[in-house]
Amino acid sequence: MSEFALPPARRLYVHVPFCTRKCAYCAFASEPVAGLSAGGLEDRLDQYLGGLVAELTARRVQLASGPLDSVFFGGGTPSLLGPARVQSVLDLLGAWGLLDAGTEISMEANPESLGRAADWKLAGVRRLSLGIQSLDDQVLRWLGRPHDAAQAQRALQDAVATGLRVNGDLIIALPNLPRDVPAEVQTLAALGLGHIAVYVLGVEPGTPLAARLHGLPKREGPLDPDAEAQALVEARDALVAQGFQQYEVSNYARTPAQRCRHNLGYWHHEAYLGVGPAAHSFLQTPAGPVRSWNHAGFQPWLESLAPPGAGPTQGSELLTAEDLVLERLMLGLRCAEGLSLEALASQLGVVLPFADSAALRGLLDGGLLTLDGPRLRPTPAGMLQADGLAQTLSDLVVAAVPGLG
Ligand SMILES: C[S@@+](CC[C@H](N)C(=O)[O-])C[C@H]1O[C@@H](n2cnc3c(N)ncnc32)[C@H](O)[C@@H]1O
Ligand code: SF4
Repeated sequence: MSEFALPPARRLYVHVPFCTRKCAYCAFASEPVAGLSAGGLEDRLDQYLGGLVAELTARRVQLASGPLDSVFFGGGTPSLLGPARVQSVLDLLGAWGLLDAGTEISMEANPESLGRAADWKLAGVRRLSLGIQSLDDQVLRWLGRPHDAAQAQRALQDAVATGLRVNGDLIIALPNLPRDVPAEVQTLAALGLGHIAVYVLGVEPGTPLAARLHGLPKREGPLDPDAEAQALVEARDALVAQGFQQYEVSNYARTPAQRCRHNLGYWHHEAYLGVGPAAHSFLQTPAGPVRSWNHAGFQPWLESLAPPGAGPTQGSELLTAEDLVLERLMLGLRCAEGLSLEALASQLGVVLPFADSAALRGLLDGGLLTLDGPRLRPTPAGMLQADGLAQTLSDLVVAAVPGLG
């Protein structure tokens, strides 16, 4: 394999580890703050901001010099920070020369804590990703969301009217609940959203939802993979009918300009720096490309940043050639634009054995993949099983390329 070296990171992820309260299904790293007094919450958020500035200052050298391609405030619920704190982070990045007019600046937000979209725009946010999940109040209650459908629609209307780029997240494939996803999609489209992300419900171990579904009869429990695929196809058909284009397994945009460039960076296997509790990074080191992750708990993360703390990184993994090939295949086959075979060859030294592999020909002939010049693309059917396809291709490569595996 040729030596793959990541260019310096032009993408920054900021993890904000607070939520009003935890939704029943969610295993993302965040702590509920509903029990704190108003003063207690302000103190916690200020402590977080102090830690964030310390981490950014210490790790600034891990970013490329010059303007970043994207900054993404994710969570948790970044909107709990309020516009002034987010603006102070953006002001710092701006003072370091890391922002310009082309930098995509996204923030995840919950409808009930969005506040006025105009205040976020003034603070420097350019793209809002709102967790809608459903426009059906019964479904929202089942999911344990802290807002109703009317609040979600008002937040979306305000964000669109303010001129921000707006995404709405939906969760589909819920067990045993009547739901009209096409009607919800139609309503979202009519509100003028430029982007919609559709996730299949994950029943994550340790969540209240997992406990609730445990031991239920099959018809009331989590959906099987076929039913999940059916739910994805139903959502995809509804989105396409409303003029959205699928550009990744879960992501749809009205126009290419509305695609989330930050997430595209992940799928293009680009370097990024992640700061905040539980944030992951993918960076070049002298030993090779390394994926690392920060302490997940708020206090351990904060203490690691105070002198003489050891720094926020809790663990890291040097990626092997085989890891990188599998990742490249998995990420590429999630995207409608597919995988560049030229980049696979020039960066990772891998040429897929089209001529000699009956299994590979079978995937092409079976309508799961298409070969389009120098790109290997998943068909719509292939996208539904992108990870399995990537694993099959990776196994073929490992068997065919000496030194891998
Ligand atoms: C981590 S949340 C952060 C955004 C914000 N706090 C919210 O809930 O809207 C980002 C998105 O992940 C999705 N998500 C979280 N847990 C999920 C699960 N168990 N299954 C499917 N989607 C999930 C939801 O669609 C959510 O909007
Ligand atoms: S889905 Fe969003 S609001 Fe709900 S617990 Fe997870 S991060 Fe928090």
